[in-house]
Amino acid sequence: MMTNKFPDNFLWGGATAANQYEGGYLADGRGASTADAITGGTQTSPRMITYQLLDGTTGKVTREKALPTNAKTYIDPDQYYPSHIATDFYHHWKEDIALFAEMGFKCYRFSISWSRVCPKGTKELNEDGLKFYDQVIDELLKYDIEPVVTINHFDMPAYLADEFDGWSSRKTIEYFLFFCETIFNRYRDKVKYWMTFNEINILRSWTQLGIHSNDPQTLYQAKHHIFVASAKAVEIGKKINKDFQIGMMVCYIPNYPKNCRPENVLESLQFNRELEFYMDVQVRGYYPAYKIKEFERKGIKISKEADDDRILAKGTVDYIGFSYYMSSVSDVDAQESDMVIGNQMKVAKNPYLEASDWGWAIDPMGLRISLSKIYDRYQVPLFIVENGLGAYDKVEDDGSINDDYRIDYFQKHIQAIHEAITLDGVDVIGYTPWGCIDLVSAGTGEMDKRYGFIYVNLDNEGEGDLSRKRKKSFDWYKKVIETNGQSALDVQ
Ligand code: BG6
Repeated sequence: MMTNKFPDNFLWGGATAANQYEGGYLADGRGASTADAITGGTQTSPRMITYQLLDGTTGKVTREKALPTNAKTYIDPDQYYPSHIATDFYHHWKEDIALFAEMGFKCYRFSISWSRVCPKGTKELNEDGLKFYDQVIDELLKYDIEPVVTINHFDMPAYLADEFDGWSSRKTIEYFLFFCETIFNRYRDKVKYWMTFNEINILRSWTQLGIHSNDPQTLYQAKHHIFVASAKAVEIGKKINKDFQIGMMVCYIPNYPKNCRPENVLESLQFNRELEFYMDVQVRGYYPAYKIKEFERKGIKISKEADDDRILAKGTVDYIGFSYYMSSVSDVDAQESDMVIGNQMKVAKNPYLEASDWGWAIDPMGLRISLSKIYDRYQVPLFIVENGLGAYDKVEDDGSINDDYRIDYFQKHIQAIHEAITLDGVDVIGYTPWGCIDLVSAGTGEMDKRYGFIYVNLDNEGEGDLSRKRKKSFDWYKKVIETNGQSALDVQ
């Protein structure tokens, strides 16, 4: 039996995001967001962005493709858009939070929809939108659940994408900061943990950034604006409440070289840098030399304002939040047939690991490795704000859902976290499994890919009565929290 428990105040909980969970798409004054114009999909049929041109013609593209310059957000009445209802937290918040409380959550991570608070993303406020979050936060606090707020998770008000080309414009920084200031002030005494942008390293394309072009120049300029916005938000937040803990959030996919061949090792180093870049800027407060050199080589010129470097240096984050689902492999000789789909990217297959039904490598030890690598490099508290297994769940005739595969996955990952804390001395402050209640998959837009401890009766086409049901993993996780992790460690 492993002893040496998790820290006493460890934040066990769960995580969701507005565009995948909330629904209530145009309810009570909310404006459309970019995520509202992406159709559903499956593993084999990709999600599509629908748009309209100035002459009224409509079109659609996959998210990897650029949109025509003048394309505007368009909701096609004949398409199904999963975000419009999602799994309807908007109308089930009381019931869902009661279930989170029943599991004993110490915290709950969710995002505040920018277009619910500022329907166009501008400085026009929607008081009814704020009231929704007042209720949610008060309900959490009633159960002593610490709210952990992601300020921006994978979408933006459609108006900003249509009128300003999203984050390619500096104007978007100003609007974003107005949104931040509004919620910082409103929840000054109720929310302590914030994180600015979800998975900042993999943000790309129109849905996440509102940009119509996908070229690296536009992309990195947009990312620069996001860095400035995030750093400035930290500065503003700290003035409002110096005790705020404001973090960044990165999609952490550690990369291993396939072997000791130097070319593979170098490729792996470069893969890892692609995500360390975001932590380097947000934790250290400046652009790292390797990225500046890369920009020079590629002819990318970041246009900065005089104060930007000072803002980046001042607005460094208090902690690193990260998602961890899988690891990846670098193999310079990999052929198309050696590649597998991972979290929003294609990577070489690791023959030593099993994979989920969606091909994501399952690597609990990789979580320990990641925790150590990140902590060794930055020495700031780490918060694992996403981890989980997307799987097909079956409702048995007696209504039970026996998701032993999920329990097994979590057990191994919790053991790995424990090892990182007790054997490597990493400062981990919390763990919020992703999609603690079933929600729409970000990658594929389907419901079949379920992560939750709680089942939601809804299918890929949006059919179902949205009723909630506890899965087997619900009681298992409840026990884990009750015993501060011990019950997950007692299994050999
Ligand atoms: C992360 C995102 O990339 O992974 C979530 O922050 C997402 O929004 C999660 O849902 C799992 O990915 P997917 O594609 O299985 O939903």
